[in-house]
Amino acid sequence: MAATTSVGQASSAVAFGGVEPDAAWREEVRRLAKQRDAVLLAHNYQLPEIQDIADHTGDSLALSRIAAASDASTIVFCGVHFMAETAKILSPDKTVLIPDARAGCSLADSITAEQLRAWKAEHPGAVVVSYVNTTAEVKAETDICCTSSNAVEVVQSIPADREVLFCPDQFLGAHVRRVTGRDNIHVWAGECHVHAGINGPELAERAAARPDADLFIHPECGCATSALYLAGEGAVPAERVKILSTGGMLDEARATRARSVLVATEVGMLHQLRKAAPEVDFQAVNDRASCRYMKMITPAALLRSLREGVDEVHVDPDTAARARDAVQRMIAIGQPGGGE
Ligand code: 13P
Ligand code: SF4
Repeated sequence: MAATTSVGQASSAVAFGGVEPDAAWREEVRRLAKQRDAVLLAHNYQLPEIQDIADHTGDSLALSRIAAASDASTIVFCGVHFMAETAKILSPDKTVLIPDARAGCSLADSITAEQLRAWKAEHPGAVVVSYVNTTAEVKAETDICCTSSNAVEVVQSIPADREVLFCPDQFLGAHVRRVTGRDNIHVWAGECHVHAGINGPELAERAAARPDADLFIHPECGCATSALYLAGEGAVPAERVKILSTGGMLDEARATRARSVLVATEVGMLHQLRKAAPEVDFQAVNDRASCRYMKMITPAALLRSLREGVDEVHVDPDTAARARDAVQRMIAIGQPGGGE
């Protein structure tokens, strides 16, 4: 299995199973992690038991920064493949493992390096900003990467008269265009199937049923524009609508005075939110919004990874060298938060 496992096969694949996340499992995971000199990183969308066993749980920007700064010789990335690849780009001399390399990402699949090269040829001189949810090959064609927590700041760092090509997420791109007020941003029409499925009518219905709730909306969601429309129409008070990365949601959960919050993102996020603010009632706008790729990282997969040293993530050194500047610019821009 190991490094030859192909990426993004999770739609038909069956996740590794048969292991209960009990005390014996937790002890064994910690023992093996120590033996391997490994740091365990988990994204906010991971299964609760994976989030709880990790050394750090956070959003994609926080985890990239932690991976870059860690002095452990092995990084075990409990997340999806592009996240582990990003860690490898930043730390080429470290061993980077992902517990199941089939954990891909439909958003990262929505643009190829070849498509990006063709798009660049149509806009010579434009600055390319790519979401971190992209392959290493796409990052190698990119000027600056961003995550949802610093996309606005990244675009604001580019001189106002320069054209920007933003890929691959159309909803995050629309959010950045709205906040920066720039009209020289071209946005690729990609999407994450999980977030795109959280739609406006569903949000409007849930918000009407809970008029006192704050709305925490991830900018990848199909409903982000609808949320701002509801605020614009006065259907929901504007100060209750917060467009936030997963890390931003956690910061806001600790600060909010609302007793109830509707959350529009992948459902794994609810675990960290409920831990951060147990007195607040957090409910998903769409409780079917579960990412099957994130959920490939099961207790059995993590154990196998630590026991066997699989699946190791490799990035071609030339590609990594070309992608590194864009990723380093990303981790240098924006405030710490969301797990750091
Ligand atoms: P953030 O953790 O950056 O908000 O990313 C969300 C996401 O979709 C990762 O796949
Ligand atoms: Fe990709 Fe969407 Fe899953 Fe995030 S939630 S890993 S963007 S498919």
